[in-house]
Amino acid sequence: MTTEPFFHAFIAIVNDLSRHLSTEKRYQHLLQTLQQLFPCDACALLKLEPPFLVPLAIAGLSEDTLGRRFLISEQPRLAHILAQRHIVRFAADSTLPDPYDGLIENTANQLHVHDCMGVTLYIDEQAWGVLTLDALNPQTFDVINHQALQTFVSLTEATVKAANLIVSLESQVKQVQQTLPAETTRVEMLGNSPQMRALQQEIAVLAQSDLAVLILGETGVGKELVAQQIHSQSKRARQPMVYVNCAALPETIAESELFGHQKGAFSGAVSDRRGKFELANGGTIFLDEIGELSLNLQAKILRTLQNGEIQRVGCDSYHKVDSRVIAATNRNLQKGIAEGQFRSDLYHRLAVYPIQVPPLRERGKDVLLLAGLFLEKNKQRLALQGLRLDNEAKQALLHYDWPGNIRELEHLLSRAALKAITPQGRDKRVVSIFVQHLDIQPLFNSPPVVSPSAVSLDESLSFKQQIDQFSRQLILQKLLENQQNKTKTAQSLGIDKGNFFRLLKRLEI
Ligand SMILES: Nc1ncnc2c1ncn2[C@@H]1O[C@H](COP(=O)(O)OP(=O)(O)OP(=O)(O)O)[C@@H](O)[C@H]1O
Ligand SMILES: [Mg+2]
Repeated sequence: MTTEPFFHAFIAIVNDLSRHLSTEKRYQHLLQTLQQLFPCDACALLKLEPPFLVPLAIAGLSEDTLGRRFLISEQPRLAHILAQRHIVRFAADSTLPDPYDGLIENTANQLHVHDCMGVTLYIDEQAWGVLTLDALNPQTFDVINHQALQTFVSLTEATVKAANLIVSLESQVKQVQQTLPAETTRVEMLGNSPQMRALQQEIAVLAQSDLAVLILGETGVGKELVAQQIHSQSKRARQPMVYVNCAALPETIAESELFGHQKGAFSGAVSDRRGKFELANGGTIFLDEIGELSLNLQAKILRTLQNGEIQRVGCDSYHKVDSRVIAATNRNLQKGIAEGQFRSDLYHRLAVYPIQVPPLRERGKDVLLLAGLFLEKNKQRLALQGLRLDNEAKQALLHYDWPGNIRELEHLLSRAALKAITPQGRDKRVVSIFVQHLDIQPLFNSPPVVSPSAVSLDESLSFKQQIDQFSRQLILQKLLENQQNKTKTAQSLGIDKGNFFRLLKRLEI
């Protein structure tokens, strides 16, 4: 073996340890080096998050792999690797299904992996995850030098440890800045497109404030998920997030549901009852489908937003509540205002910070990432060994306009998986979803649209009102960035302090 390439590659990995890199980049560099040094068609770094192994970086694998969550109990190869302390190589004729069957890129017809190695990575004597190497041809790994691979594994463990330390230090700094501990988010929101990255940034900034938020977006884009993210990244994360579906509130009980009632307030009110606003005290109340709320309730909610008070039905006095309001709708509220169905004062209270969730057709390759998540779920649900998208099917997904957005993608893939099973059978090692199983009309003439994330403005307002709305959004954003320090905010906007204070007054901030 010529040792020189190994020497240089290992030095590069060690150098990366002291460089300022994102965790993603760090892991991507590792896998690129792995592919250069050891012959393999694909490799992956997976993190152990029981009961799953979650891919953090991949090379040579279909992009949807990153969205998959491998259930260890259903992946005998991964389970076996995790059970060993040493590097494992599977026999070429092993009948165990491989998690990557059908996922290795640039292979016309060959779907099965024939040479497969893996090793569990240990950080401080605890299993942290798994590194895997796969090849389509048997004997590929015969030439691998075990000592060199072992050295590479040790360097990978050192890289993971360094990355973990950096991330944990960064998050400690953030927590100190926020003074209150923030709970780590449990709900996963997938998306790497610029649109989704911008949305994630907006969420991170908004989560630090107590401002009311209005989440706008087409049906099925993930508005509820965005609300959950804001709550779980906020200092209120340990308190409840109370969900209210305004469309499903019968008018007769709606007021009592939202604000509670006093014993004897109406027949059937046999005891005092707290409403959703009180249940969300200290936490967040999520008013979903706010566009469906009656004018009477809109007025009451406006009062609560203005004064932080609620009045239980049948009670003369007011109670203070501290619940942050997040509302969502797929309706055009301006139209509602014009038609007299939505109060404009409530709209302006809620739309202090409107968040627009981009439709799926504007998210480019995120479609495949999400497809990976849903394919893996279907694979588990249908007890299949492998489930993949054929290339033409991937193209069709990328060129469809998704009127029902993510929910439509989820349902479509569930249906497609069932259709694919019928002719191919459940026992096949890899079931392939072909374009005809998708039953969609891709718009091949128009490439996937990727529009720059725009300021959300509302065209029913006059020019001046739009300018004011934009100014308000910009100033609120800058205030957040400057921890509400007005002098610093004025400086960062390049406005004279006196003028800035007058502007705040005029814009009612
Ligand atoms: N970025 C994402 N990553 C993973 N799953 C997502 C993402 N966005 C949405 N989903 C999933 O898609 C489904 C629809 O999302 P959600 O219910 O939040 O959409 P919505 O905009 O509130 O829909 P509706 O307009 O029908 O109320 C949910 O199952 C959600 O978990
Ligand atoms: Mg919803």
